[in-house]
Amino acid sequence: MRCDRVWIKARLATLAEAAPGLGVVEDGVIAAKDGRILYAGPASGAPSFEAPETIDCDGRWITPGLIDPHTHLIFGGDRAHEFELRLAGASYEEIARAGGGIVSTMKATREATEDQLVAAALPRLDALIAEGMTTIEVKSGYGLSLEHELKSLRAARGLAKARPVLVKTTFLGAHALPPEYKGDADGYIDLVCREMIPAVAAPEFGGEGLADAVDGFCEGIGFSPAQIRRVFETARAHGLPVKLHAEQLSNLNGAALAAEFGALSADHLEHLDEAGIAAMAKAGTTAVLLPGAYYFVRETKLPPIEALRAAGVPLALATDCNPGTSPLTSLLLTMNMAATLFRLTVDECLAGVIREAARALGVLADRGTLEAGKACDLAIWDVERPAELVYRMGFNPLHARVWSAVS
Ligand code: NIG
Ligand code: FE
Repeated sequence: MRCDRVWIKARLATLAEAAPGLGVVEDGVIAAKDGRILYAGPASGAPSFEAPETIDCDGRWITPGLIDPHTHLIFGGDRAHEFELRLAGASYEEIARAGGGIVSTMKATREATEDQLVAAALPRLDALIAEGMTTIEVKSGYGLSLEHELKSLRAARGLAKARPVLVKTTFLGAHALPPEYKGDADGYIDLVCREMIPAVAAPEFGGEGLADAVDGFCEGIGFSPAQIRRVFETARAHGLPVKLHAEQLSNLNGAALAAEFGALSADHLEHLDEAGIAAMAKAGTTAVLLPGAYYFVRETKLPPIEALRAAGVPLALATDCNPGTSPLTSLLLTMNMAATLFRLTVDECLAGVIREAARALGVLADRGTLEAGKACDLAIWDVERPAELVYRMGFNPLHARVWSAVS
């Protein structure tokens, strides 16, 4: 069988859903053509391939490229000063209420040009790429006006032109109340629904096609469930799937609201209750856990992992890379935190940043496992066993990356 490249003598963690655990293949072969996997499985059952390039992996492990399903990569400025204030005793909510927090990043984001936002995000993107990340979700949410939200989403799309990653963009206009709408959150939600969502929707819905999904921040310092419902109704009317920052600092039943709209994911979830878990399980909504934010804000309430597991809710992991609550650009460290802080198993951690992350983005049919027909995005690791990818802190054993976009 003719193909473009073959990798031999590899150990595979296919993460195929039908296989137990990581879907391990000890003497594995992968063949690729036109950026797609033709075959991934045991050498013994493999067809014979004719390829201009054969790569001997010398027993190294191959996983699908890692996927970060929740980031705020596009923003201006930084919040190192706020970090100092928090070290001196101020809380995240106090800083937000005093005009810092998201609103301070909003000012810096509004001042930046689209090109400047791309340039600022590239080092963050490159740090993730250096650890084998090949697919990323990037949210807007620091522009908070039509002009600056569109600019942020264009910058997010620009990242995919600068690097061979798949970028899924999310419109997060309902992230925080911009100061010009102080005291009028409903008025701002009117703007989100009447102008912003129509502008970012796909061309067949009259927009520029800048967003692949719509997100919101359902929280005391964000927006109420009633306001988020309006955002979700508008998203649905414009053909956009939804997801939600839910139950991070308190329980407003945001996850159940998201599930009611068939959300791709509900994210954070430290304060999630049984009713929210049941609603997510019924709707097939993925839980995106963000241990970096949990760690950085020194949260002490753990997300209800055991109950999520028992209910069969898929568990994904993400960096939540953002300047306020998770200045984290490492999926390897995210896995370590998920294991150490949330007690996820090694298999759950790896699935969380690969297969379940693909599910959370709605791209599992196209990537997230090593199976014929899927994008040939690979991470090749210099490790003896997959647990090393979770166990180490601040060490990067990536040997090579393979991009489907440039194969
Ligand atoms: O995902 N929770 C809302 N948004 C971010 C924090 C953003 C910020 O503080 O700048 C988050 O945690
Ligand atoms: Fe977030």
